[in-house]
Order: sequence, then C-alpha cells, then structure tokens
Amino acid sequence: MSKKPVRVAVTGAAGQIGYALLFRIASGEMLGKDQPVILQLLEIPDEKAQKALKGVMMELDDCAFPLLAGMEAHSDPMTAFKDTDYALLVGSRPRGPGMERAELLAINGAIFTAQGKALNAVASRNVKVLVVGNPANTNAYIAMKSAPDLPARNFTAMLRLDHNRALSQLAAKTGQPVASIKNLAVWGNHSPTMYADYRFATIDGASVKDMFNDHAWNKDVFLPTVGKRGAAIIEARGLSSAASAANAAIDHMRDWALGTGGAWVTMGVPSNGAYGIPKEVMFGYPVTCSGGDYQIVEGLPIDAFSQECINKTLAELQGEQDGVRHLL
Ligand code: NAD
Ligand code: LMR
Repeated sequence: MSKKPVRVAVTGAAGQIGYALLFRIASGEMLGKDQPVILQLLEIPDEKAQKALKGVMMELDDCAFPLLAGMEAHSDPMTAFKDTDYALLVGSRPRGPGMERAELLAINGAIFTAQGKALNAVASRNVKVLVVGNPANTNAYIAMKSAPDLPARNFTAMLRLDHNRALSQLAAKTGQPVASIKNLAVWGNHSPTMYADYRFATIDGASVKDMFNDHAWNKDVFLPTVGKRGAAIIEARGLSSAASAANAAIDHMRDWALGTGGAWVTMGVPSNGAYGIPKEVMFGYPVTCSGGDYQIVEGLPIDAFSQECINKTLAELQGEQDGVRHLL
C-alpha cells in the first residue's frame, strides 16, 4: 500500500537554492522513493517572484514526478505552513562579495520571527524545521524562540554544507574516497569561526590522526578552506552556493527523517548543555539520527586547541543572539 503524502514547505522557492532543491524533493531523494510529497511553496508577494514561482511549478508539473502528490503557491507563511510536516526555510537575502553572513542579520532576521510565529500557529506539531537562510544558526534561533508551542529540538540550522566541504577536503588530502570517511564533526556557527574537527575521523576504520597529524595543515589550510568556502564560491561564481547548498539541505532532512545508521553527521541544533554550550544556543554538533530524531554525540574529549576554537565560535553565536533580542 502506498504511503500517505507528507507536506513539505519550502520558502524562497523561486530562488537559486529553491531551483536546485524542489526537483530533488519531488523525485524522492529527500524522504525516500516511496514517500509521496505535497509541496507548499512560499515566495514574497511581489508579482515578479510569484510569476517566477509559477514557472518553477510548471517545470515541476512537466517532470511528471510520480511522488508529487500536490503543489501549492503561497505568499503568506500562515497558509504556506498549514499542517506542514517539514519546513525548509531558505527564503532570505544571500550575501554578496566582501560581506560576512552575520551582516545579513539586520536584513533577514525579521523574516524568521514571522515564519516562526506562523509555524507555531499552523504547522504540524511534529514539524521538522531546517533553516538555510543566513546567518542560519541565529535565524533558526529566532524561529525557534518565536514558536514557543513547538518542541525547540524541532528547529535546526544547516551546517551540513560545512560538513560535506570538510569531508571533501579530507578526501582530497588523503586520496581516499569520501564514502570511506566517518566520524567527522563541525562545531558551532555556519561562519568562518566554525570548527571542522577531524580528530575522531576514520578512513575505512583507521584513525585519520594516526595517518597524519599535521597541525599546520589543520590550522592554516583545512580550517580556513572549509570556513571560507562560501566566500570563495561567491568570488568565483558571482553568486552564493546553490546546488551544493540544496544538496546539503537534502542530506540534512533525509538523515533526520530516515536515520544515519549510527554514522555521525553535523546538524545545527539547540544545545542541551552538551560540551558546556549554554542551553538553546543553536550550535553545530556531531549527531546521529534514528527513528526520526537526532542525538548529539556526547562525551568526546576536547583538547586545548579544540576548546579555543569552540569558545570562539560560541562567543560569536552569543553575540549574534544578543543582537536579535529585539526580534524575540
Ligand atoms: P536567492 O536570492 O536566489 O533566493 C532567495 C529567494 O527567497 C528569493 O526568490 C526571494 O524572493 C525569496 N524570499 C526572500 N524573502 C522571503 C520571505 N520572507 N519569504 C519567502 N521567500 C522569500 O538566494 P539563494 O541563493 O537561494 O539563498 C537563499 C539563502 O540561503 C541566503 O540567505 C543564503 O545566504 C543562504 N545560504 C545558506 C547556506 C547554508 O549553508 N546555510 C548555503 C547557501 C546559501
Ligand atoms: C555558503 O556557505 O556557501 C553559504 O552560506 C553562502 C555564503 O554566504 O557563504
């Protein structure tokens, strides 16, 4: 018997990431090849954006996806999020060359107050929310705080792109396939202060640190390459990452919904106090997923260098959080 369709809301549906994301959701790459979906698409009321959204929906129609059980265009989050089971909050301004993501807070922050309130009012009580729009951690924090009737742990921020970037850099450094690398973590903020941590990583079961323990490469090459990759892409493409961001959003939601089979992935989640991070700070942690839920990987040893990196990214997040008090 076929499964009951689930409702998937996507904001910024006519944007760059939206265009790389919707077709993959509708084809079953996010929630499984047996899971029909109803897409609830939100764009700003602006005539041009709504017209572009209609065009994207025409293309979705033209794919004749067997799993696409319905599709709606919205300009109001209160209707877009009605009964939604999954919400991918992408819609917001991307940064341009020379900007830092935190600079977007003044422009984008208010979007997430309104959308958090709308989720609180009309979404499924089990809705899984992924915030992609930058600065993703703090926007997710705003949405979470604006939705007091929903479980805080249902709000997450996207650090999966950083996780995937780190995997790819490690694969290049070691000459080993990405699929052979396990137990990587990215701590903290989706910003250059993030701490991509390969201390626990293994390749085909063998410790990466035992293969090479190159602090200079870690500090001067690996961390800056991963941390500043978004800016490097903006510099090269003239636009912020879109296909890789959509891919990371698919990975994040798929793993959260369907499980990781014990493997670690990185999600930005409200802290439960683990590793001394104050509760509710939306922090990148290594997690495992099963049964439609995630668990922070706890009890890992944190050495002095790692603690310094974690403190730095935490201080930045707390600064961002303080800066949005007026929105909460
Ligand atoms: P884009 O400008 O191409 O598209 C954004 C879309 O959002 C536009 O169509 C716009 O009309 C719409 N939008 C704006 N405000 C909205 C609102 N209140 N409700 C609904 N829709 C709204 O941008 P993009 O390249 O798709 O990037 C979207 C966001 O994702 C940016 O903030 C970008 O910085 C961020 N991003 C995050 C990551 C990450 O790893 N977390 C990666 C890449 C991009
Ligand atoms: C990225 O990491 O590619 C995105 O967050 C876009 C950006 O502004 O860097």
